[in-house]
Amino acid sequence: MNKAQAECDVLVIGSGAAGLSLALMLADKMKVVVLSKALLDSGSTQYAQGGISVVMGEDDSVAAHVQDTLIAGAGLCDPSIVEFTVENGPERIAWLIEQGVPFTQEAIGEDGKTTYHLTREGGHSHRRVIHVEDATGRAVATTLTDRARQHPNISLLERHIVVDLITTHKLGQGGNRCLGAYVYDRESAQVSVLRSRFVVLATGGAGKVYLYTSNPDVATGDGIAMAWRAGCRVANMEFIQFHPTCLYHPEAKSFLISEAVRGEGGRLLLPDGSSFMQNFDPRGELAPRDIVARAIDHEMKRLGGDCVFLDISHQPADFILAHFPNIYNRCLEFGYDMTYQPIPVVPAAHYTCGGVMTDRYGRTDVENLYAVGEVAHTGLHGANRMASNSLLECLVFAHSASQDILQKADQVSMPPELPQWDESRVTDSDEEVVVSHNWDELRHFMWDYVGIVRSKKRLQRARRRVELLESEIEEYYSNFRVSNDLIELRNLVQVADLIIRSALLRHESRGLHFTLDYPDTLPVAANTILTPEL
Ligand code: FAD
Ligand code: SIN
Repeated sequence: MNKAQAECDVLVIGSGAAGLSLALMLADKMKVVVLSKALLDSGSTQYAQGGISVVMGEDDSVAAHVQDTLIAGAGLCDPSIVEFTVENGPERIAWLIEQGVPFTQEAIGEDGKTTYHLTREGGHSHRRVIHVEDATGRAVATTLTDRARQHPNISLLERHIVVDLITTHKLGQGGNRCLGAYVYDRESAQVSVLRSRFVVLATGGAGKVYLYTSNPDVATGDGIAMAWRAGCRVANMEFIQFHPTCLYHPEAKSFLISEAVRGEGGRLLLPDGSSFMQNFDPRGELAPRDIVARAIDHEMKRLGGDCVFLDISHQPADFILAHFPNIYNRCLEFGYDMTYQPIPVVPAAHYTCGGVMTDRYGRTDVENLYAVGEVAHTGLHGANRMASNSLLECLVFAHSASQDILQKADQVSMPPELPQWDESRVTDSDEEVVVSHNWDELRHFMWDYVGIVRSKKRLQRARRRVELLESEIEEYYSNFRVSNDLIELRNLVQVADLIIRSALLRHESRGLHFTLDYPDTLPVAANTILTPEL
């Protein structure tokens, strides 16, 4: 992108399942630009394994899926949003099949009708997770990217990171409408303006705020931080989901071992080979994730061990290879053959349940600004997201947001020329080490003090450290030219602050938020809503 002010009808920030679906749903009627700060397949979507939850099994029902989601969400889901999402699931999956996603088939009937294989995951009372072997995200991402590349109304820009949103409020004009964004081109190291009638945040989650995470490098919470700075409320940021089973190996970068492995019979074992999940929950290995992750954390601390083990070797080798070819091969690269031996596993930060507050059309508090996918808080997940409900949410809300944008399209005009990015007061950084050091420090203390088990003392300790980092980074940001790392660090610190503040406000343990000072659950469930000062 050059320095001239580019424009489009809809600017979609993020090229994961949410962003690409939305772009494809709009592109027949509007000009869409999709930005990714790294490669197009750099988001979490590419790494999704288990699949997408949807009511398709003969014995399953919308009511059962709704009920399971409400139970996992521990009293904090919005029931009307859960119903809306679950009811729309089958149509969205039909759309994905139309786009060409090759879901794993169970059988083709005499009438030519295909039935799809449905796997099981924690919290689900039925088999309802449609998947493409054990690499569902890769198939979804590849299919949607190919489609988007072919569409003449979609422009895809890689290695372009949005620095901040431009709003009427920030420009000192009336109201608070989103007008576009400042975009940093990582090749030319230049920031330019992109004006648009509508802006959609589809930037994914914030797992990188923690030292150990299943998330890819781009998951730095940019959309949440940018929306907050633009004047949006954020909700329930204390509910960070830790996935119970990531491969424990110094070079595996917390590679995920899908919950579907437990769904297909995998058992969790202590180093002496004994199983332990029944001591924590009658649902055993298929209890919701918060319970399984806390049980593992408890056992690791009790025994002073580095990991526990996941064993599916009792299943026939050809069953394991057919269901989990990707996981099998990855484990083998690290020296573990899951057909005959247990795999060492540990929990890692996996999913951001809270986020930018939206309604059922993805609308935020800022006019013409939408948030869709993991960046958003729609009310679907409550205090703990049920497995495979995330991709479902991406698809359902991409669709409802697209319908809202199409309906408003005629009433929203293109913003006029906007102020250029001002670099008159900044110079090149003199000490890049500040950025890398602060980045490491943040992720370490978030893991130690704001992890699976929290306490008031630990949270306050984290709060003091994050405040110091915030002021240091704001000063750095004001004095030096932006870089990709600096933009991400600024956002990570902002998001860490929101997580800690939300956690301190919750005086109970519920779902994913467990604190030693308030181990009980309050009788009345309430969201933690933070409102920015404008
Ligand atoms: P993402 O796919 O994360 O995409 C975010 C995009 O935003 C990227 O393109 C990124 O480059 C871009 N971006 C971010 N910030 C900026 C910026 N400032 N400027 C420009 N671009 C930016 N969920 C399920 O339902 N089922 C599963 O089986 C499943 N398995 C998972 C396995 C793993 C290992 C992980 C990490 C997650 C899994 N999840 C699963 C969760 C699910 O994959 C994610 O929640 C979902 O893919 C998020 O999609 P998204 O479109 O919101 O964001
Ligand atoms: C998994 O396959 O275990 C991940 C599923 C999810 O995060 O929804």
